[in-house]
Amino acid sequence: MMLLVTGSKGQLGQTLKELYPDALFTDVEELDITDEKEVADFVKSNQVTEIINCAAYTAVDKAEDDEERAYKVNVLGPLNLAKTGAKLVQISTDYVFGGLKSTPCKEGDEKCPLSVYGKTKAECEDLLLKEAKTVLILRTSWLYSPYGNNFVKTMRRLGKERETLTVIFDQVGSPTFALDLARAIYKILPQIKEGEKKIFNYSNEGVCSWYDFATEIMRLSGISCHVLPIESFEYKTKATRPCFSVLNKRAIKEAYQVEIPYWRESLEKCITLLEEKGE
Ligand SMILES: NC(=O)c1ccc[n+]([C@@H]2O[C@H](COP(=O)([O-])OP(=O)(O)OC[C@H]3O[C@@H](n4cnc5c(N)ncnc54)[C@H](OP(=O)(O)O)[C@@H]3O)[C@@H](O)[C@H]2O)c1
Repeated sequence: MMLLVTGSKGQLGQTLKELYPDALFTDVEELDITDEKEVADFVKSNQVTEIINCAAYTAVDKAEDDEERAYKVNVLGPLNLAKTGAKLVQISTDYVFGGLKSTPCKEGDEKCPLSVYGKTKAECEDLLLKEAKTVLILRTSWLYSPYGNNFVKTMRRLGKERETLTVIFDQVGSPTFALDLARAIYKILPQIKEGEKKIFNYSNEGVCSWYDFATEIMRLSGISCHVLPIESFEYKTKATRPCFSVLNKRAIKEAYQVEIPYWRESLEKCITLLEEKGE
């Protein structure tokens, strides 16, 4: 059994290093997942039997002007990994949904991505469920960790520099601490049997807006910056995000007895880790 983690310099990839000390970890310099031959050769020569794909084009706004690259990395890359026949874990996103419902999105709900990034991730889901031999797709949302760039780190940085910050309150979802997602993968991966193809939602429990999230980040960090709520139209971004993208996690909890922490508790753990690192 040999596990490969691709995109290992990203948030989830770095987090998985804590759980899988014996796995192979590669990022684009060692293994570009868009290169079909390179992927096939690597998997063969290292006798890889399982892959957790953390590689992705995650710059949601940039993707609007860079559709070709986003498609290559988010659709063709995972397909190349699937073609090797190894058991594949693929990470997808709440941005496959249009966000017009006001109840949590279930796995089988109709997809309606509003952005290039969301479209590529949605197309990847469909393709893998058709073409992969064995695949577990986990849809997550609002991922953060002590690594890389994310909302928690940005808010803490800006909060230390400014007296007030405006943050949108009309987009609602659930944050996900990468360590909680990594632990769920660690528990579920051995239970995925050869030939199975599954898709599940996974985020932390609870619901908040970006404004609530930012306010809690400041409070838990002891930062006095005042957070003010604004509407999405007051903070223009190139890509459109769903207004409501809370994920329903009933299916993953029933299938694998995964215990999912409440978002505020996990946020506190991440902030403690950041403070230990002096960040
Ligand atoms: N971040 C979120 O809020 C969020 C929310 C929902 C779902 N997700 C999904 O969760 C997964 C992990 O996200 P993350 O936040 O950990 O991502 P991340 O921090 O952006 O990491 C992605 C990694 O993949 C690398 N990469 C890009 N193109 C590659 C290629 N062709 N071959 C190999 N590696 C490549 C990136 O390198 P460069 O940095 O050099 O490009 C980066 O190190 C992704 O599938 C993402 O779509 C993320």
